Amino acid sequence: MNRREFLKKIIITTAGIWLSTKTNSMSIFSKPLKKKSLSNNFTWGIASSAFQTEGAWNTDGKGESIWDRFSHRKFKNGENADNASLFYYKYQEDIQLLKSLNFNNFRFSLSWSRILPEGTGQVNQQGIDFYHRVIDSCLDNNIEPWITLYHWDLPQKLEEQGGWTNRDIIGWFSEYAEVCTNNFGDKIKNWLILNEPMSFTGLGYGIGYHAPAKRGLKNFLPAVHHAALCQAIGGRIVRDNIADANIGTTFSCAHVSPADHSVRNINAANRVNTLLNRLFIEPSLGMGYPVNDIPALKQIEKHVKSGDENLLPFDFDFIGLQYYYRVVARYSFLVPMIKARQIPAEKRNVPMNDMNLEVYPKGLYQILRKFSEYEKVKRIIVTENGVCYNDTVVDGKINDNQRIEFFRSHLKQIRKARKKGCPVDGYFVWSLTDNFEWAEGFQPRFGLIYIDYHTQQRYIKNSGYWWKEFLT
Ligand code: FCB
Repeated sequence: MNRREFLKKIIITTAGIWLSTKTNSMSIFSKPLKKKSLSNNFTWGIASSAFQTEGAWNTDGKGESIWDRFSHRKFKNGENADNASLFYYKYQEDIQLLKSLNFNNFRFSLSWSRILPEGTGQVNQQGIDFYHRVIDSCLDNNIEPWITLYHWDLPQKLEEQGGWTNRDIIGWFSEYAEVCTNNFGDKIKNWLILNEPMSFTGLGYGIGYHAPAKRGLKNFLPAVHHAALCQAIGGRIVRDNIADANIGTTFSCAHVSPADHSVRNINAANRVNTLLNRLFIEPSLGMGYPVNDIPALKQIEKHVKSGDENLLPFDFDFIGLQYYYRVVARYSFLVPMIKARQIPAEKRNVPMNDMNLEVYPKGLYQILRKFSEYEKVKRIIVTENGVCYNDTVVDGKINDNQRIEFFRSHLKQIRKARKKGCPVDGYFVWSLTDNFEWAEGFQPRFGLIYIDYHTQQRYIKNSGYWWKEFLT
């Protein structure tokens, strides 16, 4: 194996662990699931993000983002998100569809480079106007908007100065958060600061699988620390600027099992769990980074300045958990930092989604229990959960019963967690429409609404009708 192949192998293995996103598990018994069995006081919503849906990548003054740049390079099937699902033009239609499915909460993100094309400085009024139109359209339809400030599409101009590896991002992000809260604060109560910081630092700055395609601990660790700081600093800016804001941030999480009961593999699974599930929440709760469980993480201290320990914690009103898959881990000498690798779902003969990731509903219960154990976590919302299958349209219909089963089985795990006292009181489906699934392009379809990318026509999948009925 030459060096290139060796590196590729490590990247794929580690990417597999991070990406182990997204699948199905069929529950054998399908006891009817009633909305009220989860509580009357429960937030039901649906989520999307700017880069994955808006298109209009350079329209009306929008600047380039790292994802525009990345997807314009030689990319899977030559695809890019220049048009995506055209949400920029079709937002009214999509909001009507969302309403027709009986959802009354919509989580979407703002594109930083649509608002500040250079990342800082000049504000693009046309970008601000676009988001006002989207927000107003939600409010006019009695849909509560939930804003994610950062869902991975950093302005390219900022990446040219080091992006998340440059400590100046604290100032850049603060300026952006100020602009957003000042412009939308009187209309928006629900704010999420970052989307899955572990994913964008790990995939984007650790293994180079996502934009901006940087690699190695020298990029990953500063990116982690600066994202952890921004997560808290962003929270404080929203708190200061909007009196009655409901503030959260989201964490990706995966249920991690050891391959067997050997000490080596149990320890390996523990390291994977630490990296995937603890790295960002613990500093936000004032517990610091979990360096004892992954010694290589101690190198993060090089990037920590005195006084940072006071900046890292923030008292979030809720935390957002995003759950898609389970990882089964075993010891591996070859993988840097975590010394562990995953056993791919294909090799384990388990239910999988269209991205070959294991569907494991019970993991959602385990994750909810785990995060509820942190004393300072007051409230949990599942801010993303969903599945991609290879949907096809037959006579204008999409018969995606497997997806319905996915939702049913996962909602049952939430019901069980609530019975055990977990403070989970909200659930957002990923996603409203099919969209551009990052480095995987258009192939994985996560939507309740199918998109024919040739015509941009929308078709409600059977799972969409299932939700409509469930939410009645
Ligand atoms: C999550 C991302 C979201 C989407 C889903 C499938 O990790 O937050 O944008 O890609 O996975």
